[in-house]
Order: sequence, then structure tokens, then C-alpha cells
Amino acid sequence: MENPLRAGIRLERTAGPCSVVIFGASGDLTKRKLMPALYSLLRQNLLPGSFYILGAARTEMNDEAYRKTMREAITEFADEGIGDETLWQNFASRLFYLPIDPDQPDSTEKLKKTLEKLDGQWGTEKNKLLYLSIPPNSFSSFIRMLESAGLNRSDSGWIRIIIEKPFGRDLESARALNREILRVFREEQIYRIDHYLGKETVQNIMVLRFANGIFEPLWNRRYIDHIQITAAESIGVENRGTYYEQAGAFRDMIQNHMLQLLTLVAMEPPVAMEAEAVRDEKTKVLRAMRPMRKEDVPKFALRAQYAEGATEGEAVHGYRSESNVKPSSQTETFAAIKLFIDNWRWAEVPFYLRSGKRLPRRVTEIAIQYKRVPHLLFQEEGEQIQPNFLIMRIQPDEGISLKFGAKFPGQQIRIRQVSMDFQYGTSFGRRSPEAYERLLLDAMLGDSTLYARGDFVELSWQHVMPILEAWKDPAIPLATYPAGSWGPPEADEFMERDGRRWRRP
Ligand code: BG6
Repeated sequence: MENPLRAGIRLERTAGPCSVVIFGASGDLTKRKLMPALYSLLRQNLLPGSFYILGAARTEMNDEAYRKTMREAITEFADEGIGDETLWQNFASRLFYLPIDPDQPDSTEKLKKTLEKLDGQWGTEKNKLLYLSIPPNSFSSFIRMLESAGLNRSDSGWIRIIIEKPFGRDLESARALNREILRVFREEQIYRIDHYLGKETVQNIMVLRFANGIFEPLWNRRYIDHIQITAAESIGVENRGTYYEQAGAFRDMIQNHMLQLLTLVAMEPPVAMEAEAVRDEKTKVLRAMRPMRKEDVPKFALRAQYAEGATEGEAVHGYRSESNVKPSSQTETFAAIKLFIDNWRWAEVPFYLRSGKRLPRRVTEIAIQYKRVPHLLFQEEGEQIQPNFLIMRIQPDEGISLKFGAKFPGQQIRIRQVSMDFQYGTSFGRRSPEAYERLLLDAMLGDSTLYARGDFVELSWQHVMPILEAWKDPAIPLATYPAGSWGPPEADEFMERDGRRWRRP
């Protein structure tokens, strides 16, 4: 028989017997992401026969009521809805609910008993993936409950724990959180999730760089002028005002997702595609990142908040009028930052990161702008020749474009920028899995490559602290921008000072 690997067909990876136990099971994330992802994994036959899901939360509910709510969530949020009724019946038969309050003395026993019963019933060999999707203020109670239920170690089977963001709100709280979990679990058991790492296009950054010979030789300070990473959203804060007031754009997007993207672009080739090797290289990037001095923050970082305006043709109100937001709020909904990585590959190449809500479109991209030719032979009338760009479009419209100059047809030499495009959608004719599908499956398989390691998280906080500290000072202005614009004029000035421009993706 032909070897499927040689024939270019990768066998899909199916998880072994296990259970997934979700704490915070009546929350938004469970409904929007986790259940649809698990349902999709079952649809693709990527879950084992010996498998069940236990949802646990404070809300009083029985299994039937929980199944009904989750059915509604899957109908609304899964790409393909419920689909085949027998698939749903299969899923529902494996779905259970336990009302639990970690602060009640009986919680430990209740949890232990339920898991023992279900483990026996479903033959999961006591393998467990615990998922903490709970607010930061309940974290300690849940960790203590898991510890006293003996769910941090197992004499047979594995136990892993996924921790949802926010992972702290400053360096001190992130360190305290790491200490708290590491007191109970070992680092190898801890999976700190950053859903950006599960996106297909984000994983493709490593493939583009390390599976092709033509890009890497140009991937350095000799050829690259600068790199821009944009994560723009057209939505506002929706119903998350309470959380967002504590977070702001910088903590919500830059400290985690965008620094992850930056390290994937900037890292050295790892010695192997293995969790520790990849995560070592990413951590080294943060170690080489130039620390920012608090007094330099106004030069290197900028914050702004949206005022009323219009997005996608609809009038929308300003941030301060959103529900659960203070009318005098100083929280930023847009942030931009310039960073340097002081190593041989990147010395003096700026990395510009920006992220904001209520911008004109939802788009995340990484744009590499190359240096101009050393001497230009062509006289261009009036207009400057555009630089070359390599653009990795993370979402939507996933793909990669290379922009370069070409001769415009005619008797004269006139140069226009053209684009060579790769599009995921049309090239593979296959749906890309949702980030949470990939990440949940990886955790069941014990692969932590796409999860954040404790030292990475602490280093990322260390870098952003001077900015957060500086922004406590009311003398550092909070700019404003109308909803539906590409940020405040100050953001353009921020780039113009360096003789550069933001792209308008
Ligand atoms: C989350 C942030 O981590 O990422 C949200 O808390 C943001 O504010 C979201 O909207 C963006 O994720 P995605 O996958 O839609 O780009």
C-alpha cells in the first residue's frame, strides 16, 4: 500500500480517550467558541469515542437545560449549525452539566464524584482537559477547588489545564497568577491560550518563512525598511464595557495577540517544530526587545478613544456612551506603538503595531515594507515609486500578497505597483478550521507549541509596563477619533515623524 505521508496526504490527528471540563460553562466564550469548536471536531471525527464534556458554572441548571442552551449556541455560532440530527444526538449524549460554586465547602466532593462517575461511564482513562474560562476574581477559588479535588495530578491518565485570558492585568498580577498555578500544576500541564496562535494564517507565518527558500534571505535589516502590524476592528466594545474599562486596547490586543504575531515574524528558525524549541525562539525575541523608558513613552506609543461617528454606513455613538463605560473614561480604544529588536537580524528596523475598535473595517495584517533600490534608473514624473511590500493577511480574506513595480504598457517607461496574490479561499477550496478547534485538539494531544509559556507572558508584561505606567499620567493626552476613521490624526503624525505612512488596508 502506498505510504500516505509520501503521497502527500497527512493523516488527521485524532485525540485519545479524554474528557473536557469547562469551568465558566454558561459564559459567552463557551457559547460562541468552545461548544461550536467541540461540535465541529466531532463532526470531523477528530474526537475519540471515549469522550465527554462536563460544563460547570455557578448557574443552577440540569443536563437537559444545558443541552438546550448549547444547542441554541451551536445553531447560532457554529459555521455549519447543528446539521445532521444524529450528530447532535451523539454530541448531546456526551454533554453534562454540574452547578458548582467553588466557595461552597461541598464543591470539591461534588466535582470529584461527578467526574468519577462520568470517567467510568465513558472510559476516558481519567485523562482530563480542564478549561478555566472564568473571571480573574474567581481564579484563586477555582484553583484551590481543583487542588483539593486532587485534579492537579493523577496516578493514571493525564491532566492538563487551559487558562483563558486575561492573564493578569500588569506584570505583578501576571507573576502572581503564574506562581499560583505553578504551585498546583506543573508548567507542562499548563496551556495559556492566545487564540491568535490557532488561526490558520498565523501558523502559516512559520510555513512561509521556514518551508520556502526565497523569503528568508530577505528577512532582515539589510532589505527590510520596517514592519507594520495592524489589528483593526469595526465593532465597538459591544456588551463588554465592564471588562474593557479595566483593559483598554493595549492590554486587550497588543500585550498578547500582537506581540505573539511580532515574535513569529521576528524569531529565528527553531531547531525543530516542537513546543519548547519554537517557544524558546519566540521568548528570545522578547529578550532582545529594547526596553522602553517611561519618559520615552510619548515618542514611542500613542493612545486614543473613539468618539461618535459612523461605521459601515451606520451612525454609532462614542465610547463614553457605551453601556458600563464611565462618561469621563480615559480608557484607550486605539493604541499604536513602535518597537525595536536589538539583535543582529533586526537592529534599527522599527516594528509598528496598531490596534483599535471602531475603525473602518475588520482587518488584521502584517506588512513588511522593503527598502528602496539603491539607485533608481527610471525617471518617474511627479510620483514616487512605491516600495515593495509583502503582506500577510491574517483575516478576513486570508492570504499573502507581494507588491512590486511593473512597467505600465506604453512607449514610455512608467511604473505602477502590481500585486501577486495568494488566497486561502480559492487556492485550497477547503474551510480553515476555527482557532479554537485547533487549540482544543492540540491540548488534547499534549502539544503546547501554539500556547503561551509562562516566561513569555511575564516578559511581554515587562515590556508593556512602562507604557501603562506612563499612561496613568493625565498629562499624556488621550487623542480622539471619530468612529469609522483610521484613528486620530496623531497616529498619522506618529509615522510621519519617521518619514513613513500607515497602510490603509
Ligand atoms: C479578543 C479581545 O481577545 O480578541 C476582543 O478581547 C477582540 O476585544 C478579539 O475583539 C479579536 O479576535 P478576532 O479573532 O475576532 O480577531
